[in-house]
Amino acid sequence: MTGAAQGKMSGLHKMQVSERRALVAAELGIEAAELDRALEAGGLEVQTADKQIENVIGTYALPLSVAVHLVINGEPRIAPMVVEEPSVVAAASAACKLVAKGGGFQAETDEPVMISQVQLYDVPDTAAAKKAIEAQREDILRQADAAMPTLLPFGGGARGLEVRELGGAMMVVHLLIDCRDAMGANIVNTVAEKVGPRISSIAGGKLGLRILSNLADHRRVRVRCRVPVEALTTRERDGAEVAELVEQASRFAEADPYRAATHNKGIMNGIDPVVIATGNDWRAVEAGAHAWAARRGRYEPIAIWRRSGDQHEAALLGSIELPMALGIVGGTLGNHRGARMALRIARIRSSMDLAMVAASVGLASNLAALKALATEGIQRGHMSLHARSVAMSVGAMGDEVERVAAEIGRTGAVNPEAASEVLRRLRGEP
Ligand code: MEV
Repeated sequence: MTGAAQGKMSGLHKMQVSERRALVAAELGIEAAELDRALEAGGLEVQTADKQIENVIGTYALPLSVAVHLVINGEPRIAPMVVEEPSVVAAASAACKLVAKGGGFQAETDEPVMISQVQLYDVPDTAAAKKAIEAQREDILRQADAAMPTLLPFGGGARGLEVRELGGAMMVVHLLIDCRDAMGANIVNTVAEKVGPRISSIAGGKLGLRILSNLADHRRVRVRCRVPVEALTTRERDGAEVAELVEQASRFAEADPYRAATHNKGIMNGIDPVVIATGNDWRAVEAGAHAWAARRGRYEPIAIWRRSGDQHEAALLGSIELPMALGIVGGTLGNHRGARMALRIARIRSSMDLAMVAASVGLASNLAALKALATEGIQRGHMSLHARSVAMSVGAMGDEVERVAAEIGRTGAVNPEAASEVLRRLRGEP
């Protein structure tokens, strides 16, 4: 995206839906009609939905929105977000704008390696079984590769094997499978089911579950950002003070699991909407994020903030790390035009690329929440969005929305009666 296009994106919130669509389509270089078609019926016809899951009686709509000002590894991106909560998209975009002032997000990922678990129980000697399984590592991995012939041409396949003794007579074998651009659940479950009997016969125990692990900690994404303190200055506070307040908010989450849960919820406010928009399994991402947060035996924040020690270039530094099992092929994407379009909107090139976009929006959402909470509180921002939706509910259009919202926000009478009154006055009606 060009700098000029980024500039136009600043005015997105003041546009009509059709104008936004036209701008996004122009930016992507596609026909506006194509974007319209992709989003018709929410991107999913009921007849298709009926083939996707059981007992369908309809489809269920949520807003599809775009977060802007996102820059990742030097490249401007637009993030599609499906979410019902007001403020989330505006807050993420505003935080992305602050981060862009420090050069944007720096992101990297592991290779897309999933864990396939094979449980063994009633193993007479788990230490001996571990040795025996490890001795046959290459054969087991070859058998695993043979179970996923369609993945091999894309560069995926079995990458490793780990054996863990779980106490008593129970153990688990992890098959590490590179799933490339697939989320990989079906692939790794198939592999575990195919290879499981061989592993249990080597171990001499009984074969238990064969299923992926959602703690996909071989498939992590890491994002960092650096916000110059001047960019954090608000009407009431200078940037250095805001940076300190955000650091203290981060330290609070690091010290207290009760706060860490809410801190991480604010991060998932950014991640889940991207995951949902792109047709991915958000329960899997949530499970992975929270299991990662608790990996040291205590629930912790998955993103933290510190002031940089550099006196000359004072900045607030943020970082996030979490497992991110996402796909850009297979699954829902085959059925859902809207999800396929969401991938195009963000110009996603690979599952790893999508993970970087989702985690960057998560870090942005966290920054927005901490900055608001540590300074003015979040209710002020919520109220101004609420005022806009009240203004629209009484028929305000175009510019009127902002003007009515500003007036009812100023007087504190954020209700339809007051909004109608202001709108009538604005229009010079009796
Ligand atoms: C609300 O959806 C999310 C927040 O509670 C996150 C946080 O407290 O950091 C504002």
